[in-house]
Amino acid sequence: MTTTALPAGTALTSPLLAVDGLTVRFRLRDAVVHAVTDLSLTLRPGELLAVVGESGCGKSVLAHALLGLLPGNATVTGRARLHAPGRREADLIGAGERHLARHVRGRGVGLVPQSPATALTPVRTGRRLLEETLRAHGHTRRDAPAAAVRIAADVGFDPADLDRYPHEMSGGMAQRLATALALAPDPPVLLADEPTTGLDRPLVDHTLDLLRRRCDTGAAVLLITHDLAAARRVADTVAVMYASRIVEHRPAEALFDDPAHPYTAGLLDALPDRAFVPVPGHPPRLTDLPGGCAFAPRCARATDACGTLPRLAADGTGRVACHHPLREEAPA
Ligand SMILES: Nc1ncnc2c1ncn2[C@@H]1O[C@H](COP(=O)(O)OP(=O)(O)OP(=O)(O)O)[C@@H](O)[C@H]1O
Ligand code: SF4
Ligand SMILES: [Mg+2]
Repeated sequence: MTTTALPAGTALTSPLLAVDGLTVRFRLRDAVVHAVTDLSLTLRPGELLAVVGESGCGKSVLAHALLGLLPGNATVTGRARLHAPGRREADLIGAGERHLARHVRGRGVGLVPQSPATALTPVRTGRRLLEETLRAHGHTRRDAPAAAVRIAADVGFDPADLDRYPHEMSGGMAQRLATALALAPDPPVLLADEPTTGLDRPLVDHTLDLLRRRCDTGAAVLLITHDLAAARRVADTVAVMYASRIVEHRPAEALFDDPAHPYTAGLLDALPDRAFVPVPGHPPRLTDLPGGCAFAPRCARATDACGTLPRLAADGTGRVACHHPLREEAPA
């Protein structure tokens, strides 16, 4: 398993979440999907970690694996320890469904799902969903209604629309309701999977600021996003995933100013305010990964050495998995 290195600049407090060697495989009839491979990271109180990478690289599977939400064809190995304040440490991978449902999902680790419209119970109004969630997490029948209105307003959901059913909401409204539902139990760790999809720019910024403020009060947020500008705006640290693995992980400023992995550099070059040139080629199929570096067919720096899998190794400010990294201090 990979050692969980701490990017420089991250506070030396104990992690709320420590993931070590997380690996997820899906069995298909004639193939195995390598969805997440040997993934290690920590989330500390106050930290907002952005996980970025192209579609299909394993970001949502990572979040679902941590909450025991994967279907029956998944095999999950590795460890993920939750150290929520005032609670016994729990290994999320080894925990049974009963423990996850009672003690982890919602109150220990919240999830803003990527497709809220399908995740929301269709037969309850937004108000009822929020009030029920609040009452399940310590609010009384008396104070839940006011708390529901307050949380809705916090996420930019007009409380006047709370009596709508999910199918009567726009995608952006359902997205904000899903964020409100995840925040209602006040979890110490929040996994937010593309929480700004379908939102206009002011609401994107509002949601990002809300997540940032949660971290500023001691919670930790893992923000899964395609939006590198969003990651740059609010993240303390960024993990870049490619073909099921973390290939670079470091403080946001260092990663955006001076990336080490050619794939990270490619993602940054694709930004409109930079070269605006997409990464050439396509990601590999996760059922048919090469033995060496999976980025090699798209990488201008590839050599014969890249036929061997590069190890995710610590460098000056973080971790990188590349035989020929771009940063001077990175290991060759
Ligand atoms: N139940 C499943 N059975 C088989 N393969 C699956 C299953 N769920 C996900 N996968 C595969 O796992 C890989 C990772 O999927 P995941 O949803 O995590 O991607 P992602 O990085 O979140 O992509 P996006 O940015 O599009 O949301 C994909 O190749 C996907 O097809
Ligand atoms: S290991 Fe080789 S192919 Fe992979 S990113 Fe680094 S230089 Fe490119
Ligand atoms: Mg996803």
